[in-house]
Amino acid sequence: MLNQKNIRKIAGQYAEMDAFFAGFSPRGKSRQSLCIAEPQTDLSQDSLEKITGEIETCRLCELGALRKNPVPGQGNPNAQIVFVGEAPGADEDEQGLAFVGRAGKLLTDIINAMGLKRENVFICNIIKCRPPDNRDPRPAEIIACTPYLHRQLALIKPDVIIALGAHPARTLLKTEQAIGKLRGIMQDYYIDDNSAPIKLMPTYHPAYLLRNYSYENRQRVWQDVQKVLEYLGLPIPKKKIN
Ligand code: URA
Repeated sequence: MLNQKNIRKIAGQYAEMDAFFAGFSPRGKSRQSLCIAEPQTDLSQDSLEKITGEIETCRLCELGALRKNPVPGQGNPNAQIVFVGEAPGADEDEQGLAFVGRAGKLLTDIINAMGLKRENVFICNIIKCRPPDNRDPRPAEIIACTPYLHRQLALIKPDVIIALGAHPARTLLKTEQAIGKLRGIMQDYYIDDNSAPIKLMPTYHPAYLLRNYSYENRQRVWQDVQKVLEYLGLPIPKKKIN
């Protein structure tokens, strides 16, 4: 069972692996003192503003000291759909907002093609600070940061999470499966052992789509989001993702 003690142990093990393979250790913290963002058990005491405040001063991994701005995520606090990406890039780091660069523009197109606006949904990432040179987030960073996301999801209680790409899909579903296998199949995400499942649709990350801009890939993403609209009983616009 994944309780606090186990999460700390796993985070410590991953930090050790990061230190071994990538020469990284959490700034100013020994392996023993590595801590993770405490999941807020009493939801009545938690709020999106409180989480944002904690992220602003977070130093649970080295990214906190390297970022220009934290990127907690933004949008409708009562959203039916939450989009979860990987980590902020340079544009997001500059503005403190999720998905505002090239990939963000494509995400806006996808949201609009669904007949929605960005303001209708909530958009965030598993990692709240930019990894330098847009490198992949490290396991210890993911473990340290995801409790913020779990708390955000527990508060927003969306009907569907759309996981954009391999990192969010694998992190939230606790699987090692490839995104090509996961995408397009509606899954169940659990905030904790006692919570009811939230539907989760894995699909390709907009940055992947930009790099692999084929008709087939665009169709795949369009099919994935259509399934979400269908599940929610929302109208499916004729328009496709361009
Ligand atoms: N890619 C992401 O995964 N998230 C962002 O916010 C921007 C680009």
